[in-house]
Amino acid sequence: MCGIIAYSGGRNGAALIIDGLKKLEYRGYDSAGLAYGAYGKINILKAVGKVNNLEELVLKNKVNSACLIGHTRWATHGKPSKENSHPHTGQPGAVALVHNGIIENYLELKQKLTAKGHKFKSQTDSEVAAHLIEENLKRTLSFPAAFEAAVKQLKGAYALVAMYNREPGVLMAAKKQSPLVLGIGKGEYFLASDVPAFLQHTKRAVFLEDGDIACIIPRGYKITAADGGPAKRKIHTIAWDNTSAQKCGYKHFMLKEIFDQPQAVEDTLRTLPNDIKKSFGISARRAKEIKGIYLVACGTAYHAALAAKYFLEHFAKLPVEADTASEFKYRDVNFQKDWLFCAVSQSGETADTLAALLNAKKAGLRTLGVCNVLGSAITRASDFTVYTRCGPEISVASTKAFTSQLTVLYALSLQLGFARGALSKPQFNELYKELLRLPALLAAALKKQEQVKKTARGIFRKKSFIFLGRNACFPLALEGALKLKEVSYLHAEGFPAGEIKHGPIAVIERGTPVFALAPKGFLEGKILSSCQEVSARGAMLILLTNDAAQNGLLLPRVSEYLFPVIAAVPLQLFAYYIAAFNGCDIDRPRNLAKSVTVE
Ligand code: F6R
Repeated sequence: MCGIIAYSGGRNGAALIIDGLKKLEYRGYDSAGLAYGAYGKINILKAVGKVNNLEELVLKNKVNSACLIGHTRWATHGKPSKENSHPHTGQPGAVALVHNGIIENYLELKQKLTAKGHKFKSQTDSEVAAHLIEENLKRTLSFPAAFEAAVKQLKGAYALVAMYNREPGVLMAAKKQSPLVLGIGKGEYFLASDVPAFLQHTKRAVFLEDGDIACIIPRGYKITAADGGPAKRKIHTIAWDNTSAQKCGYKHFMLKEIFDQPQAVEDTLRTLPNDIKKSFGISARRAKEIKGIYLVACGTAYHAALAAKYFLEHFAKLPVEADTASEFKYRDVNFQKDWLFCAVSQSGETADTLAALLNAKKAGLRTLGVCNVLGSAITRASDFTVYTRCGPEISVASTKAFTSQLTVLYALSLQLGFARGALSKPQFNELYKELLRLPALLAAALKKQEQVKKTARGIFRKKSFIFLGRNACFPLALEGALKLKEVSYLHAEGFPAGEIKHGPIAVIERGTPVFALAPKGFLEGKILSSCQEVSARGAMLILLTNDAAQNGLLLPRVSEYLFPVIAAVPLQLFAYYIAAFNGCDIDRPRNLAKSVTVE
């Protein structure tokens, strides 16, 4: 959804901007550009494609500037092209600006500006903001005043950073609904869509809030709140280290992050009891007040939420409704006031999830966020947050966030089950003890890497893949299919195993690969029957099980409700290797962006 990195300080920031853009490529990578101030002039370089192409231009032009703004794009308005890539300039070209989000009233503004003689060079919504600032500069000599006035005219979502050729070193920034973080270094400042873009240079960060306008001058910064008054924003110290945003010898971030999972889950588990107590306030009384839970999320996070429905129904005996945020927010939900609303999101910035959360808040529900990114919009909007502690997830295809979300939601189900009297103390202790074994279990599942790779080599040319699961493994079947289609672009579908005979079995033909999730447990016989049904029609069955009596990929013994967490690992590895054998760009799959901050 576009990535922004800007710098103002005392050194040449060219390499730093390129490095920051590379860290933000997960947000968009169809074109990139940068603007830099030099000798009272703004220069702009743009390149279609990945940041590497821009890097070549930067080196060729020997860019040397202490004030720069950079952008990597995920096209919304206008195709990926040089003209449509950012930064955009206004007229006469004194202001350069980058934008992430969507300016909803851009057509109306464009018409007005065109009537005043402005000529537009791109099809983007963003360009109008640059023209607006320059139009305002005709009436005021102050860049901050012109910028603020322009921002007031915008409707929609935006993170904006702009520079002006007459005020070297000054950066103006505004945020509404799209993320923007201010990094505070020693005598230097950064503005970025996400922390990893500047983590190498400073760990001190201020998460700008909606309506904030920041003004950076070479010697300091000032933030004005939506009401026009000074905004006092906390300076956070980011706990992530720089290596967590690096590939660390792995070929792709996706593979690295699959292998990060034991550590990510361990870190999540370590802080969980405190987080749950502090954020969620599970006292027996509070827990009993909760009569049901709405679980809302998108994509992979939705699959974690759907699995949690099974956990909560089973352990906490609570009614649960799990839905995708894009559907939930437009449904006529008859909100139950004594239900808890829980939004699950890695980035904490997903527009649909945030909108659904705000609806629930408006209806008077207590809200809980399960998020990975400190200070993100969903954490700020929720009454409470429980954090997954995965560190930055860079790969567009989500892996470690998924298993960490499952971990949090599983723990939450046990806590609620115990607090509500659905689980006895010994039952709770035993289940929690098993949960604490997850890092070791995930590490054991990762040992299947070579077996998975070998199987993937045998099937990577297939064109269609089916995933089957039941109960808490059904959402994992959906997730296995999503992972595969995201990174390999192949057709993949997940079904509840019991449903295939009601239609989907028609697609099975000789050699169709069918992944079946068959943990030892009360539904094992049922899923094995579905396996018989597809095998009888010639399917190539790949069984993921923890029952040594079965012939399949053997995973560690765990209870059937924890099985989806460890079985996620081989499914992620299958997706990875099938994509790798097909030569796909795994960390930057076509058409996708990591953080979907538009509707
Ligand atoms: C899948 C994927 C997406 C996200 C979805 C929600 O691999 O990355 O489906 O899971 O866009 O994102 P968050 O969790 O940031 O709300």
